[in-house]
Amino acid sequence: MPAVGIVIGDGKREYPGKLTPYVTVTCIVAAMGGLIFGYDIGISGGVTTMESFQKKFFPSVYEKQQSDHESSKYCRFDSISLTLFTSSLYLAALCSCVVASYVTREFGRKLSMLLGGVLFCAGALLNGFATAVWMLIVGRLLLGFGIGFTNQSVPLYLSEMAPYKFRGALNIGFQLSITIGILVANVLNFFFSKIRGGWGWRLSLGGAVVPALIITVGSLILPDTPNSMVERGQFELAEKKLRKIRGVDDVEDEINDLIAASEASKLVEHPWRNLLQRKYRPHLTVAILIPSFQQLTGINVIMFYAPVLFQTIGFGSDAALMSAVVTGLVNLGATMVSIYGVDKWGRRLLFLEGGFQMLISQVAVAAAIGAKFGVDGNPGDLPKWYAIVVVLFICIYVAAFAWSWGPLGWLVPSEIFPLEIRSAAQSVTVSMNMIFTFVIAQVFLMMLCHMKFGLFIFFAFFVVVMSTFVYFFLPETRGVPIEEMNQVWRSHWYWSRFVK
Ligand code: BGC
Repeated sequence: MPAVGIVIGDGKREYPGKLTPYVTVTCIVAAMGGLIFGYDIGISGGVTTMESFQKKFFPSVYEKQQSDHESSKYCRFDSISLTLFTSSLYLAALCSCVVASYVTREFGRKLSMLLGGVLFCAGALLNGFATAVWMLIVGRLLLGFGIGFTNQSVPLYLSEMAPYKFRGALNIGFQLSITIGILVANVLNFFFSKIRGGWGWRLSLGGAVVPALIITVGSLILPDTPNSMVERGQFELAEKKLRKIRGVDDVEDEINDLIAASEASKLVEHPWRNLLQRKYRPHLTVAILIPSFQQLTGINVIMFYAPVLFQTIGFGSDAALMSAVVTGLVNLGATMVSIYGVDKWGRRLLFLEGGFQMLISQVAVAAAIGAKFGVDGNPGDLPKWYAIVVVLFICIYVAAFAWSWGPLGWLVPSEIFPLEIRSAAQSVTVSMNMIFTFVIAQVFLMMLCHMKFGLFIFFAFFVVVMSTFVYFFLPETRGVPIEEMNQVWRSHWYWSRFVK
């Protein structure tokens, strides 16, 4: 008798499978898709504070900053065109999601990653060689299209490849490469901004070619996921691949479940309209709320504008860039904590602890800035210890994000959708993430100018809202095979009324 999936206590199935070197290497390569996203997040903030870059492309911003010594510090960097440079990319990513969803479903996760890498590469080259604002903008759009494709496919790819017991850890490889990308970009900005002749920004922007090539080449050598092969009718190939990935022969149960999931998905003619069906209400809710909440933690205020923010609270421009490197290191280190703990402690615990820690540190940052800057934004001389205390609390905040909402904001959506709506629902997730990233990137400097230190209270409020949501409405998904996820909703106190 062939070995079959063992049914464990609460009705969950256990598929045999090991953490084989093959699956580990495959997931590491695929996770590198996060590098391009991270590199861009880390590079844009620093580049927009480089004087030579401002003088060349945004002369009015440069002049305003030079002449503007009198007005409130809160408003020093408030400029729509400068923020548009950062945030335009997210609009492009948003637009490419729909196409990326189609490609991911019809042609596999691999092709989607490849397209992402190639588009990003083209954008990086155009930016590095830019001589006019239009080249910058077209470049940013291409980068955005690229990110739309990789953020659609990489998290799904990882969740489908991973043996379910290690799904959390392997999926967080994506977030880990985002944080590596951010850190490398921060360090490069620090050095490139010192290049005499002021062309360092070209290296910063053009440097994006490197992570782009990594994922482009990576996607060419990666296999497609068995789930995606089954979805496209390649049953035998999928079974063979699954054996190799899991490192065991008895994959029968898992493959049968994949085939069943794929047959169910064939009955679905309109994956988008389908999402609106009552039985997908919990999935749609999570697809919309988790990425929106992830951005409403306010993390990108730190990621995009750390150098600007640190200058605002009294650091010189060098010290400001250096502090951004420190937060980048904390971000990376704390992500590793999440990799270690996510499949042991579960998603909910990390979400709730992270939320609590973010809340405390946001209130502390608001109080510290409020105490010195007041509402008029003129602090006088700031003592050194003061700036250090603010950076410390910002680090505590970043650590909390990095082991909770950062990785889980990508992991949880990618693991809860049934195959028949997976691509469509994932593109809702990516779109929501991009919309909120865009809005926050676009309005942050304006908000800082008007809400002043109260801005941190604004984000703290949302942290309370999202933690409440997690507490009541988000079931634990640790240790549940991806194609068995439905039972999690069926046994939930609230969602069971939608999922029969
Ligand atoms: C978020 C990004 C954020 C990054 C920080 C990601 O999960 O989607 O918006 O900048 O984490 O590490």
